[in-house]
Amino acid sequence: MITHASYAVDPWTLRERGLHLEVLPQSESVFALSNGHVGWRGNLDEGEPHGLPGSYLNGVHEVHPLPYAEAGYGYPESGQTVINVTNGKIIRLLVDDEPFDLRYGLLRSHERVLDLRAGTLTRTCEWTSPAGTTVRVRSTRLVSFTQRAIAAVAYEVEAVGGPARIVVQSELVANEQLPVREGDPRAAVVLDSPLETEEHFAEDGRLRLVHRTRRSGLRIGAAADHVVRGPEPTTTQSEATGDLARLTVASPLREGERLCLEKFVSYGWSGTRSLPAISDQVDAALAAAMSVGWSGLLDEQRLYLDDFWARSDVEVDGDEQIQQAVRFGLFHVLQAGARAEQRAIPAKGLTGSGYDGHAFWDTEMFVLPLLTYTSPDAVAEALRWRQNTLPAARERAVQLGLRGAAFPWRTIAGSEGSAYWPAGTAAFHVNADIADAVVRYVAATGDERFARDTGVELLVETARLWRSLGHHDHHGTFHIDGVTGPDEYSAVADDNTYTNLMARANLLAAADAVERHPRRAEELAVDEEESAAWRDAAEAMHVPYNHELGVHEQHAGFTRYQRWDFAATRPDQYPLLLNFPYFDLYRKQVVKQADLVLAMYTCSPYFDAEHKARNFAYYEPLTVRDSSLSACCQAVVAAEAGHLSLAYDYLHEAALMDLQDLEHNTRDGLHIASLAGTWMALVAGFGGMRHHGERIEFAPRLPERFGRLAFTLELRGRRVRVDIRSREATYTLVEGEPLEIHHHGQPLTVDADKPHTRDVPRLTPRPAPEQPLHRRPNGATAAQN
Ligand code: BGC
Repeated sequence: MITHASYAVDPWTLRERGLHLEVLPQSESVFALSNGHVGWRGNLDEGEPHGLPGSYLNGVHEVHPLPYAEAGYGYPESGQTVINVTNGKIIRLLVDDEPFDLRYGLLRSHERVLDLRAGTLTRTCEWTSPAGTTVRVRSTRLVSFTQRAIAAVAYEVEAVGGPARIVVQSELVANEQLPVREGDPRAAVVLDSPLETEEHFAEDGRLRLVHRTRRSGLRIGAAADHVVRGPEPTTTQSEATGDLARLTVASPLREGERLCLEKFVSYGWSGTRSLPAISDQVDAALAAAMSVGWSGLLDEQRLYLDDFWARSDVEVDGDEQIQQAVRFGLFHVLQAGARAEQRAIPAKGLTGSGYDGHAFWDTEMFVLPLLTYTSPDAVAEALRWRQNTLPAARERAVQLGLRGAAFPWRTIAGSEGSAYWPAGTAAFHVNADIADAVVRYVAATGDERFARDTGVELLVETARLWRSLGHHDHHGTFHIDGVTGPDEYSAVADDNTYTNLMARANLLAAADAVERHPRRAEELAVDEEESAAWRDAAEAMHVPYNHELGVHEQHAGFTRYQRWDFAATRPDQYPLLLNFPYFDLYRKQVVKQADLVLAMYTCSPYFDAEHKARNFAYYEPLTVRDSSLSACCQAVVAAEAGHLSLAYDYLHEAALMDLQDLEHNTRDGLHIASLAGTWMALVAGFGGMRHHGERIEFAPRLPERFGRLAFTLELRGRRVRVDIRSREATYTLVEGEPLEIHHHGQPLTVDADKPHTRDVPRLTPRPAPEQPLHRRPNGATAAQN
């Protein structure tokens, strides 16, 4: 297995022993801390060496022109990119006359621990300077879940084996220089000095910088305050210039003495608030944090996470790596979404600038399902963000000559940010994905207020889009032509099955919603004729099928295309998008990521078991998984089709995407969808969970390696625990009223009387289909063979 020696396997922590500079950029991503509002990459306290310095505020971006060699009508003119805001993490250290820089001197020990229950990143190291002075440094960092504007660091230096003259500089730094990485379209646009200075302040350890972005006009405030403890005579000095505010602490330490610094940092930003208002906002947030102090922040953080784990934990017996990875994934998904509060949840969360900090359909189809059953409030907030961006989506629809709302393929602030329309604008399925997330959230929570105030509007506007994008042919069949489905190696195709089935569900959900909420329907000017037209379109929706092969087509005509020449494709030519022209990918049978296979999960009731198995066997040898979103979907369907060991390998690939840097771009930020996909592979794959309308189904089946799989879900105000072993599954109502579920098709009412145990039917294993040459899953059993 390709485990990097640097990360130890442990159920509740991610521990790096030693400092491995070659994986520094990757470790900055895996050690990133965030609450969904503020994000700090796991950069070293002293700022250097670094892979990519990163401090992010959800929603803070700059706009830049999107130049086209050949412009066309309706191309988005302006792009958005996340920017690196004021860095509040930096604490520089001078030991005698030398900067504490781990590239010099002797690093005696170095360890970093991300503690998933404490919500902290702790670092301990011992270092001898080139001149021979030894210090021990210990720092603990958190980004607060309970106080969303706050991040904090406790930093301690100790003189070891002799005296040390110590100077610590605790800083706020704006406009840091960033490394440029060219040639990979998945990295970010780097803007030089995106922040204009507006205010700088420093006095008695209190620091503040306020800046403004040049074009997007966002005002960003960062403030810091400190508690310093050191032996006499420890002196402090504060100063500020436009891009730097600094507290300098000088302390001559005798052997064994320590200098301790607690640093509290607050952030705020706004597109409308004035300079004094932002200054006051960050000062006020700081005052709240200082009033509970460092230990108060630690306590709040732990309580918040205790609560999270009580409702979300997944236990896996028999595979320590997966146990660690699923908790690591849950933690990072929580970090991405917990306090996003009506802002997007980007594909990388706030862990890096990859994909320019954009949010995609990843949010609704990968992240929100997990959060729906574990942290439903975060889902409502994420969907309210979509609702807030409806004006831009309506405008885009008008520009495209369509009705309703055309949500962007990629965005930060709501407008379309994709300059490549065949895999951007044409990927209309994002609209149905949003609708799916609405329906799932309402079905899982019964939140009627949300359904009325937010849900109906999102469903109606997306249904309108589908009705105007598609058409009835002369037989009355409804088609949606010229769109791109999830597989980005096919584009602008007719009747993509995933899109059509998801659109069908969207249209029906909208028609149902307006019936349930007639007043809202009236406000949105929906009449009976319109909702009847949605039902007609849904009922007449075309789903392409190849009768000769007995399989569903990914899109009309797909199975007729020439197959990609996998035998002639070298392993180093993956991902194909970096080595072959799109025109050739588009006209061949080659699949970037689960598309038809994903449809069999998200629209599961549409397909019978026979077709699920046949379709899976057909698409598997064509699917190259050049997207990190694929493995988890394939895991779910492989499990349902009875290929448990293949499902297990895909689970591994999804789970270890970032811990083992499988796509070699974890440095740009974590693959949040794949991390959420780990949960999906376990709960929907081996737990066999499907939730459609009122029906909640489990069809558990464990791979050989697992002794046990257990997970907790929040369902309609109840808490349910599912505990699966190879021969039986036990369902326990932890909290709330009795709930009806299905176990392998049999109804079962889970009530408070006692846990309910049911047999797990035996599966007859069948041979699993092959993958394209060189594209076997990066999983455990594959690696052993
Ligand atoms: C995938 C998309 C995904 C995007 C962001 C692309 O490689 O093909 O489906 O939304 O990455 O994760």
